[in-house]
Amino acid sequence: MNDLLVSAELPVVTWAGDGDLGEGEALLATLDACRLESWGARSIRGFEIFRYAEASSILRSRDFASPFGKLSENSGLTPEDGWIYHHMGSTLANVQGPAHVKLKSIFLEFFGPRAIGRWRSHVRDIVRSRVKTSAKDGTLDLARDVCLVLPAYLFCRLIARPDEDAAFLAHTSDEILTIFDQDPKNRDRIIKAGNRLKTYTENLIAERTLNRGDDLISYLIGKREEGALSHDELVNNVAMLLEASVDNTGNQFALTMHHLLSVPERWQHIKDNPGLIKKAIDESIRITPKVTTINRIATIDTVVNGVSIPAGSWISVSILGAQRDTTGLPEAAHYDLDRVSERPHLVFGGGVYMCLGMLLSLLELEEGIATLAEEFPDLALIAPLEQTFTARNITVQSLKVKI
Ligand code: HEM
Repeated sequence: MNDLLVSAELPVVTWAGDGDLGEGEALLATLDACRLESWGARSIRGFEIFRYAEASSILRSRDFASPFGKLSENSGLTPEDGWIYHHMGSTLANVQGPAHVKLKSIFLEFFGPRAIGRWRSHVRDIVRSRVKTSAKDGTLDLARDVCLVLPAYLFCRLIARPDEDAAFLAHTSDEILTIFDQDPKNRDRIIKAGNRLKTYTENLIAERTLNRGDDLISYLIGKREEGALSHDELVNNVAMLLEASVDNTGNQFALTMHHLLSVPERWQHIKDNPGLIKKAIDESIRITPKVTTINRIATIDTVVNGVSIPAGSWISVSILGAQRDTTGLPEAAHYDLDRVSERPHLVFGGGVYMCLGMLLSLLELEEGIATLAEEFPDLALIAPLEQTFTARNITVQSLKVKI
């Protein structure tokens, strides 16, 4: 480390945690000010990254690893808590090196570009039927009744289970995902939900072992029989796929619909030009990314822009801050359906950890929006969006509409 410049060159901020960054507009103002001053800062928890170029390069670099394995510990779980403590550590999101590459290639066969097309008609079917069955007196909560539940209904189709399981799966996933708050007060609910999900998954694997289909579980059982997956890897990763697929996609869908419906001319423009739906999703993801921070841990002593970062340092990459960086993308915080941008999003992470479900989630958003635009063209907001907008993520509570 002697020949490296010291990290004191970065400004120091006094945040003790995400909460101290503020919420909503205050958070955005803080991030804008920090980004203007420097690409990064030192804080009590480690290093904070604000600009696009450095954020993108750190997410892709092998000098920094995903800290998913730390989530259990930081949520107060211990090895004595059994499966739930260990399952995060042995899933695709956390195993490292060749084991990670091997596992990812198995899942990519199911979630790759050629394989996911067959789910398009299912998304349309779910969105249509959710709107029709939820609407009362011509109104519904588009977030709660449609966007947030779509991924759990789709997951039921992926694993060939009836729609009736969707509420259980969505609730269980939400409970386990409180692990990302890294708050020991969530420990008990995480353990209970983890036990429920483990039993559900093991029963499903046992049943499907005797009765195969062309679903995700049957596909993975086949991989276990080929020796590519152990039984534990099978159980843990099915649970992880549920957790990973439900919350992020549902919220990003709701956020995109809010961008469209909050400006009626914009919604009209999309209905007249459905070819712009992909652009509408892009704009929503950049300005309001569901995941607003991605963490990394430095695996070795390393250097970024001449600043030394010691092994073991905790890095908080602000996706919200970086995606609004105007370097090379003027007015990056402005929603513009005519924008031409080659700058990839960071919300799906990067490098070897790049989100496995990116294409599936984009497919869900595209088909979901297309179905709403074609079949429910009179959709209009009747109340302001209810959301929690923090340095860790954006969570939608409600998006009330008339149809
Ligand atoms: C808008 C929707 C989604 C967002 C914003 C999102 C975001 C992310 C992020 C930030 C990561 C961590 C990347 C990193 O550390 O560099 C990740 C990883 C992952 N996501 Fe997603 N995700 C979404 C949808 C999905 C879906 C639908 C699935 C289900 C198939 C999924 C499965 C995964 C998996 C398995 C990983 C771990 C990948 C690895 O470590 O190799 N995600 N996602």
